[in-house]
Amino acid sequence: MILTIAIDGPAAAGKGTLARRLAAAHNLAYLDSGSLYRGTALTLLRDNLPETDAVVVAQKLRPELLTDPELRAEATGRLASKVAAIPAVRAALLDWQRDFAKRPPGGKQGAVLDGRDIGTVVLPDAMVKLFITASDEARAMRRFKELQEKGEAAIYARVLEDMRERDARDTARSTAPMRPAEDALIIDTSALDADQVFSLAQDYIAQKI
Ligand code: C5P
Repeated sequence: MILTIAIDGPAAAGKGTLARRLAAAHNLAYLDSGSLYRGTALTLLRDNLPETDAVVVAQKLRPELLTDPELRAEATGRLASKVAAIPAVRAALLDWQRDFAKRPPGGKQGAVLDGRDIGTVVLPDAMVKLFITASDEARAMRRFKELQEKGEAAIYARVLEDMRERDARDTARSTAPMRPAEDALIIDTSALDADQVFSLAQDYIAQKI
């Protein structure tokens, strides 16, 4: 039996931390699907290409790019959410994500994918679906602290504004908008630490399998 866990939610809600911990606990492969959109955006930025080239870039995306440190830059995230609204870009990245879940790399027994539309579009039959969210302010504060720790100059109000803008785009787009699947467990992490979120998710997974 292949265990598939779909985790969706807005930026900086704690999806990635939870996904990595669940992958380690259940011996699953992990795919951060945002890195595919970020990789597409980063190629456009680096090669100075227009947004209209995003589909071709997504079709030819190179896996090496997906670990590039520049992937996490704020400018990359901003452009990623713009190209992610283009239906043909999403279509170009769909098989990659589904193949990863169906044939998890490294001989793993299943996969955890996180993103915005994993439980609704990419893997509607996933055994476990989680939607991880938190207040705008809690998420912006986490992102702000992360940037400070990396030694990057950051202004909290600007981080909050950027995040709201990106969430609005992800929620309003007509193709695969960010929303919880009907059968997802919603976890608000505003007042929870990573251990508490992990333990809620583990209890839910135990019920499901
Ligand atoms: O999760 P992350 O912040 O890395 O995602 C970057 C952008 O990629 C998001 O703002 C969103 O627009 C897009 N994305 C998406 N669908 C996913 C994952 C990410 O549209 N499954």
